[in-house]
Amino acid sequence: ETGLFTYDSGYTATASCKSAITYIDGDKGVLLYRGYPIEQLADKSSFVEVAYLLINGERPSAEQLKAFEAELSAEAGVDESINTLIGSFAKDAHPMAILAASIAQLSAKYHASLDLDDAEQRRQAAVRLIAKVPTLSALIYRHGKGLPANTPDTSLDYVSRFLKQTFESADGKYDLNKDVVKALDLLFILHADHEQNASTSTVRLVGSTGANPYASVAAGVTALWGPAHGGANEAVLKMLEEIGSADNVESAVLKAKDKTSGFRLMGFGHRVYKNFDPRAKVIGEMTKQVLGQLGVQDPLLDVAIKLEQAALQDDYFVARKLYPNVDFYSGIIYKALNIPTEMFTVMFALGRTAGWVSHWLEQQVDPEMKIGRPRQVYTGHDVRDYK
Ligand code: SDX
Repeated sequence: ETGLFTYDSGYTATASCKSAITYIDGDKGVLLYRGYPIEQLADKSSFVEVAYLLINGERPSAEQLKAFEAELSAEAGVDESINTLIGSFAKDAHPMAILAASIAQLSAKYHASLDLDDAEQRRQAAVRLIAKVPTLSALIYRHGKGLPANTPDTSLDYVSRFLKQTFESADGKYDLNKDVVKALDLLFILHADHEQNASTSTVRLVGSTGANPYASVAAGVTALWGPAHGGANEAVLKMLEEIGSADNVESAVLKAKDKTSGFRLMGFGHRVYKNFDPRAKVIGEMTKQVLGQLGVQDPLLDVAIKLEQAALQDDYFVARKLYPNVDFYSGIIYKALNIPTEMFTVMFALGRTAGWVSHWLEQQVDPEMKIGRPRQVYTGHDVRDYK
């Protein structure tokens, strides 16, 4: 009831908020979105339905889902000024920097007209962000590849629209593959929310000051970028490429156990899960299926499987309850879907936008909400005279 959590490393944290959106049991490897187990949502739901569930607390009826999808289509477009902004970045600028800037640009566009006391305007801002982040992501990818800016095909469903806008040729050609659409939809479901992780807590901290939702989500994007958080999916691929082959797995595990090496197994460990990350289980299983469907042979998958086996049998990792997390296998699937490594964390942000805006909305109607103000243990000088 006090909301006091003591982690096994002795670190004690007080609950930063109350929330009814997502529940995690780190010891049992349980993850529920609005009470529904992630495994069942992965198996039976769609990302748009999950986004609706996270925002509204209940699954949509068929009519509500249709209306929500129509809203997302109607809000998918962005101004020409966004293309100018994205175009102003170097071709090799990191996509997460461009995404944060693009969402900050949306905060400038909508700030003056946004009345945060109006529930419908708050909801509309949430829908806009879920609708526009895929468009921004596609435009950022195209900028990096030197492809012309384009517009979303609003006759398509949410994920197909994103894929087509991202990968269509300059003359608008792209063959949608239903297996690819399904795989991406599932990855977005698995990344949609995760309680008070660093980036969601950032969105809430910024939102608690009364900053608008676009500015709050732009801050969440920058928090997610770090390799200890969402940036881990990009770091995992780089790590697997550095390990190179299954023969080098043993030495990689040894290196990760040597603290002086500064090397950690990216995609392993978690602040809360001290058991299997249920999302990693689903993604691990789907990785082999997706690569099989696409006829992709990726030697890095063998390296990842061997690395997981070696770590899970090693006392160092077992003693510290280090298991694969959501980022361990996701990059292998993104790679098979021809998504470049530097875009992996943007993919994480695309799914997580649904969670970020849900937490922002929940916070705005929390009667107990106060401005976030973490405290510290002071370890500096006693008072002294400035002579
Ligand atoms: C995400 O919070 C969320 O929910 C996040 C997320 C979400 O959906 O939003 O789930 C997404 O960010 C997943 C995490 C992705 N990050 C990585 O995969 C980076 C690699 N992982 C580690 O950096 C680490 O495990 C963290 C950052 C995830 C957790 O770090 P902590 O809290 O510092 O880990 P810990 O204190 O529990 O570590 C306990 C011990 C330490 O050794 P000792 O000092 O006890 O001897 O385990 C060691 C750590 O050095 N350790 C690792 C390790 N992770 C922890 N050793 C080697 N490899 C690792 N990956």
